[in-house]
Amino acid sequence: MVAGKITRYLSNINNIREYYTPYGRYSRVPFYKYFDRETADDGYGVYRFSHSRTSLLVSLDAIQFDENSVILVPEFICNVVLAPLRQLGLKYVFYEINDQLEPIWESINKMLTFNIKAIIMVHYFGQPQNIDQYLEFCSNHNILLIEDNAHGYGSSYNGKLLGHFGDIAISSPWKTFPIYNGSYLYTKIPLESRKYPHQPLKIIKRYFENAFISFWDNLESINVLSRKSVPDIYKKPIYIQEDMLPIWCMDKYSDLFLNSVDLNLVRKKRHDIYCLWNLMCKKKGLEPVFKCLNEESIPSIYPAFASSYNQSLEILKWGYDRGIDVHKWPNLPEKIISSGGNGVKIWKKMICFPININMNLKNLRDIINK
Ligand SMILES: Cc1ncc(COP(=O)(O)O)c(C=O)c1O
Repeated sequence: MVAGKITRYLSNINNIREYYTPYGRYSRVPFYKYFDRETADDGYGVYRFSHSRTSLLVSLDAIQFDENSVILVPEFICNVVLAPLRQLGLKYVFYEINDQLEPIWESINKMLTFNIKAIIMVHYFGQPQNIDQYLEFCSNHNILLIEDNAHGYGSSYNGKLLGHFGDIAISSPWKTFPIYNGSYLYTKIPLESRKYPHQPLKIIKRYFENAFISFWDNLESINVLSRKSVPDIYKKPIYIQEDMLPIWCMDKYSDLFLNSVDLNLVRKKRHDIYCLWNLMCKKKGLEPVFKCLNEESIPSIYPAFASSYNQSLEILKWGYDRGIDVHKWPNLPEKIISSGGNGVKIWKKMICFPININMNLKNLRDIINK
């Protein structure tokens, strides 16, 4: 027992040293004893939470930024990403992005100050950003890279899985796979160890639904909506306060499910659906947001630009009339809405077409050809 204690003590010392070398500015002493942590092949710590907002909260907390630190956040972002920053009292400023959802580096460079300590890079809808540019920027300015791959679990870039580029990376497979919760946090920064509970109600719900699993497996449909008319939140950008959830870990069914998934099959099906939406958008005169679909991506939705705000509303109605979840993204932060900047302009003309692994391609083709 004493030997065990000594070994653990020594390994903590090692961890502390490891902890200081690459960044040199973090003070929290990591303990691994209780945390559900494993090390990925490339040395990242992998942690499992229920949601990415939690992954972000826990990892940013571990960094212990000083009070003047500022984080760069893209102006086209869901305000739930800001919830962990707000909870930790972290300052942030928005940086500009263009219509291809890429950063405008000239304007970011003008924003640089000593207080900028991290930048969030979002792989929108599972399409990899130009990661090399972000990496270069971060290494030139000694800034941490926070890789937000909430939309694109399983996508890769030059053969390497997204989530393995940033100092911290999050993904939310629960958004694109039929599981109730699940976020992976990959981090080079060791975390304090704790045990967190599972999300209780969801687990009970799963227990009942497992009984019908073979039925669900065979159910192929187009997303059928229960709502019959376009909700107000899609008609104009409305600020909705999104709060943090309690800290829950990923439930083990979700983890098991994700470990057994054939990502190549998922990618193929999602690409097929993406291509069908692409055909339809061409017919309707909509412009794809991404000039070409990255072969290695697993897209969460098909995003397109309408020529005007009104046309985007018509397309939403087109979807709702057919029970298809055509929607807007994201719930923008209040500051972005009131600024009326590019984030709002993009929001107004962008429409998101659903991609769901259970979609029946033939039904979808029929709807599109009508
Ligand atoms: C880009 C992005 N990052 C992070 C999140 C947070 O993910 P989660 O809902 O798993 O907390 C969202 C949620 O919509 C998102 O769109």
